[in-house]
Amino acid sequence: MCGIMGYAGPQEAAPIIMDGLKRLEYRGYDSAGIAIGNGTIKVTKAEGKIVNLEALLEGEPSNGKIGIGHTRWATHGPPSDANAHPHADPSGEFVVVHNGIIENFQAIRDELAAHGSEFASDTDTELLAHLVAREYDGDLADAVRRTVALSEGAYAMVVMSTREPEKIVAVRKISPLVIGLGDGETFLASDIPAVLHHTRDFLIIEDDEMVIVTAEGASVETIAGDPIDRAVTHIDWDAEQAEKGGYEHFMLKEIYEQPDVITETLGGRISEEGTVWLEDIEFDDAYIAGLDRVWITACGTAYHAGLIGQEIFRRVLRIPANVEYAHELRYADPIIGPSELLIAISQSGETADTLAAARIAPEHGSRMLAITNVVGSTLSRYADDILYTRAGPEISVASTKAYMAMLIAQYLLALRLGAARGTVDRARAQAVAHGLHLMPAAIEEVLRREDQAVVAAERIVDAEDVYFIGRGLDYAIAMEGSLKLKEISYLHSEAMPAGELKHGTLALITEGVPVVAIITQRAVYSKTISAIQEVKARGGKVIAVAYDTDTEIERHADMVLRIPEMNDLLAPVAAVVPLQLLAYHVARLRGHDIDQPRNLAKSVTVE
Ligand code: AGP
Repeated sequence: MCGIMGYAGPQEAAPIIMDGLKRLEYRGYDSAGIAIGNGTIKVTKAEGKIVNLEALLEGEPSNGKIGIGHTRWATHGPPSDANAHPHADPSGEFVVVHNGIIENFQAIRDELAAHGSEFASDTDTELLAHLVAREYDGDLADAVRRTVALSEGAYAMVVMSTREPEKIVAVRKISPLVIGLGDGETFLASDIPAVLHHTRDFLIIEDDEMVIVTAEGASVETIAGDPIDRAVTHIDWDAEQAEKGGYEHFMLKEIYEQPDVITETLGGRISEEGTVWLEDIEFDDAYIAGLDRVWITACGTAYHAGLIGQEIFRRVLRIPANVEYAHELRYADPIIGPSELLIAISQSGETADTLAAARIAPEHGSRMLAITNVVGSTLSRYADDILYTRAGPEISVASTKAYMAMLIAQYLLALRLGAARGTVDRARAQAVAHGLHLMPAAIEEVLRREDQAVVAAERIVDAEDVYFIGRGLDYAIAMEGSLKLKEISYLHSEAMPAGELKHGTLALITEGVPVVAIITQRAVYSKTISAIQEVKARGGKVIAVAYDTDTEIERHADMVLRIPEMNDLLAPVAAVVPLQLLAYHVARLRGHDIDQPRNLAKSVTVE
């Protein structure tokens, strides 16, 4: 999730690009840079927020009417001046910015190095500049085409060169790119809000397309070079809508970003066969083979991600795994040994209780692995090993896409640990990898059913209490669904294992009381049906979350929110989405401030 800007026209490019980058800062901001063409290409870049780049540019003559810029959300290589984009080839004649992951970056780097290339950064992006320079034979678009053919992954790539100084050549392979069409000037950006104050007319670039930008306009082609007659899209959002990408709230925007977040978090880390590479994990296979237990600690939604993780690690690693609330673990004087791994999960990496619990590990000679969304966060600096989620900045207090990324990260970790322990055979690894690669499309299908979540929301919006039930992984999802509803709609909710209902809470299930039942886990299907029947027998109203292929559930539930059929181990990734949408629409119907719910903070840095 980085921010990209480009400009070609009669105005000075630098101020326009810098203004656009600031409007894209929500996409990531651990470093930023700008390249301005005027005979040569002048690159200026700085670690940290955009204000650091502005300070470097202060007083510099801004001479150049074409340029590109970038705000970075680090994936390869820590935040630093050297790793900031744009990146140039050694000659400085070819300059690139890029958003996404080059999955075969190591093979490219090795091949370039074998032919004498030297590198100024740790990034995969710099390799693209080297490739374009090597492939250039008089046509910049062709050189970019050949570079794309050599590069695997999901990304957007933008190139300029002194050899063809009036052009910007860009390619989209999943990461977004839009072209703003002005009067004698053309804009390029990762997202519409960055240039909406200049123009409302856009060309939306689709996957596997190239666009050649000049001051006069833009020509769109397939990656093979066939011209595309792309219709102009007129955007009539107001400024506030623009910041939310046209969505009414950041929360809904972030729910809809989840397919891309899955793609980004998986990017470059897992093959079709299920082989996993985790770039910031230091421990070796001998350590993994000696592991006796996995502890997970976190708070809130991150804890609910850990509830899924403990089940995944148990099933895949066949060793004990348990998730503990960080605010409990830190005072529990736990027995954690050197052959036990403590995983701390935190979107912000700044949650006080989670930081305190994470520090128990070194006191017991154990390793601590951080799963976090913020590069350079306090938790990441405490950790022996880091598994970064790549959800991009999450603005809404209610966590959705970061939670999704935490789940993906734990599946990746489980496959990596399972491979080293020999508890995951190739067939199983391949099946899980296949399911994960299909997940973005599965989530998009669930999102297409949002209207069903609206109907369900209308049914429970006036309830006093809502209960969520499920067994195993379904219970873990029930916990997250309940928290989502509570924290943004202020409607009281409670989640529990479906088997626990009859041990007391059933006393509260009377006529019309809504119960949301998640029922994806086939091994306990009939048991969850029994719990649903207990609810129905007392007049409760059941909203089920079930697979498309479940033909029995209609006989028991009052309403069914469907998800595509999939491996039960992966079902939580899809099953949580209807519950996120349900919570969102109940809150919307209740007229609440969804992104900033009362009494809550995005990161609880106090104890
Ligand atoms: C989740 O929607 C809440 N915002 C809250 O429970 C949050 O998950 C919790 O405070 C932990 O935050 P962290 O992931 O940044 O540590």
